[in-house]
Amino acid sequence: MKLLVIISGSVAAFKTLMFIRLARAAGHEVRAILTEGGARFVTREAVAALTGGPVHHDLWAAEESIGHIRLARWPERIVVAPASANMLARMAHGLTTDLASTVLLASRAPVLVAPAMNPAMWEHPATQANIAMLRGRGVGFAGPIEGAMAEPESGAGRFIEPADLLAALTEARPGAGAGAGALAGRHALVTSGPTHEPIDPVRYIANRSSGRQGHAIAAALAALGARVTLVSGPVSVADPAGVRVQRVETAREMLAACEAALPADIFVAAAAVADWRVAAEATQKMKKEPGAGAPVLNMALNPDILATLSRHAARPRLVVGFAAETEQVVGHAQAKLARKGCDWVIANDVSGDVMGGLENRVHLVTAQGVEDWPRLPKEEVASRIAARIAEEFRS
Ligand code: C5P
Repeated sequence: MKLLVIISGSVAAFKTLMFIRLARAAGHEVRAILTEGGARFVTREAVAALTGGPVHHDLWAAEESIGHIRLARWPERIVVAPASANMLARMAHGLTTDLASTVLLASRAPVLVAPAMNPAMWEHPATQANIAMLRGRGVGFAGPIEGAMAEPESGAGRFIEPADLLAALTEARPGAGAGAGALAGRHALVTSGPTHEPIDPVRYIANRSSGRQGHAIAAALAALGARVTLVSGPVSVADPAGVRVQRVETAREMLAACEAALPADIFVAAAAVADWRVAAEATQKMKKEPGAGAPVLNMALNPDILATLSRHAARPRLVVGFAAETEQVVGHAQAKLARKGCDWVIANDVSGDVMGGLENRVHLVTAQGVEDWPRLPKEEVASRIAARIAEEFRS
């Protein structure tokens, strides 16, 4: 693969030299851009020796044999390693202050970022907001990891190890999912579709749900090698290939099937579960008697499957809920994160044509912040969710 490596200013830049060596040994063709900051930590000569070619650095240099647009067209993948806080900020805001940032804006190649910085800079809301923005655009992240820093401090912000960066490169395909096998050995439990709550043998109460998004997530997780159990309410979409599908009707059946499927590493609650059921289901069809008024239905609360599994003794390591909202989409999702005790909430605005439709516009809400994803086909949303989950399990 044609790989453009952008080295920005961090003391971890020396590790990128090892990464370049590993990448070339694995058969990749590597070119490099060394930013001004990067050149403070590693020399052009060292980068040139390891890539076996010229090192690009100056946007305006007359001697550059290749213009920034041509350079932007060349790579099949761009790896920004190490990515400083400044580099992330420029990427997020589309600034073109040097060759590296200009090439990043001018290229359509998928980008993988390996950040390295002091924990305080990493945790700063400005950096986290930039990261959320970049993730929302499909930029992949490898690391950082937790550990000792160059200065006597430790925490999150340490550059990923070179071999792990190479593994991340082959696993992750930003914006399109991660490589096969990234979730091998993991058990993922997914709910999908509506539940039907019977009134009598012929009538029921239900939420609107086609099951398209939940089924696509099950398929995307299976494509990454996870063993997937899909607990589905009544839907007309086809069972995804390679997934164990368990069909249920009611919320109580869905909860029982989910609990029976534990233990699991991942739980994605994509089902539109009915919040209430009819307290006493009629055993015979209720008759419309001439002259009699409409019956009054006595309702009972259904169990909350997401909240139950979030607080379960065998809680899956990563619990992801959905929030279908028609207004204040992100605000309601943030409240739901706390209320349900889950790790992520995928909020979608269902005020338009999302329900039953083929596309979805979602926001990924976590304790770290909010990622706004563009409107995408439901399969693409599913691949991105699966790729983000794989990323979570890699770190
Ligand atoms: O509370 P609300 O229905 O808005 O929450 C939506 C999220 O909770 C979804 O992930 C849905 O699958 C899950 N849920 C559940 N059991 C319920 C209600 C919702 O698992 N009874």
